[in-house]
Amino acid sequence: MKIRPIRPNSAHFVTTVLHQFAESLGFAIDAKDPYTSMHSEEVAEVSHALALSMGLSPNEADIIHVAGHLHDIGKIGVPDAVLKKQGSLSPSEWRAMRRHPRAGADILRPVAALKSLGVVDMVLHHHERYDGTGYPDGLAGAQIPLGARIIAVADSVSAMLQNRPYRPSKNFEAARKEVLRCSGTQFDPRVVQAFEGVAAAIEGMVDVLSAKEKDV
Ligand SMILES: [Fe+2]
Ligand SMILES: [Fe+2]
Repeated sequence: MKIRPIRPNSAHFVTTVLHQFAESLGFAIDAKDPYTSMHSEEVAEVSHALALSMGLSPNEADIIHVAGHLHDIGKIGVPDAVLKKQGSLSPSEWRAMRRHPRAGADILRPVAALKSLGVVDMVLHHHERYDGTGYPDGLAGAQIPLGARIIAVADSVSAMLQNRPYRPSKNFEAARKEVLRCSGTQFDPRVVQAFEGVAAAIEGMVDVLSAKEKDV
């Protein structure tokens, strides 16, 4: 069989493949949990829209989009019994769950391009909170990579819109209000402001994704 030559020197080829692999790994992690079948895709799309709304360049927005696809890849190391548990987690189960950002960064670090573009650090810090009470490192404010601050908002919006065994989903308006309420504590106020500016577009985007989800 003849293998068609690829063009490894093409920057476009590399970024396209990087994105496709990120999307594929995002689907892999989402496949572990029936309640979150389009979560990584949604976080990637919403993060991209937020980044552009904040005035970041298309290139920077693309990098954050890739990190959005990959943000929860470390959950691959969390036992299914914890990941899919119906009801509250014990302290040791919480510790297992809270290891996923560092596990994700460890999984991605061998990909030099992801490290140099900052994707590894965005994944590592996507559960930090703006007020410094998040994890794994308790970073605050501008210490948290901007991409991670953006993904944190997108992640919460996506999670609130999803049904979970222990709570019903919120509608978009309720999720929007919750994001506003957490501005300056959980979230960077600049990201929340950007979210307010494009909330209608994001609502349309998540509607399209949830229709796709019902198809699968
Ligand atoms: Fe994507
Ligand atoms: Fe996460």
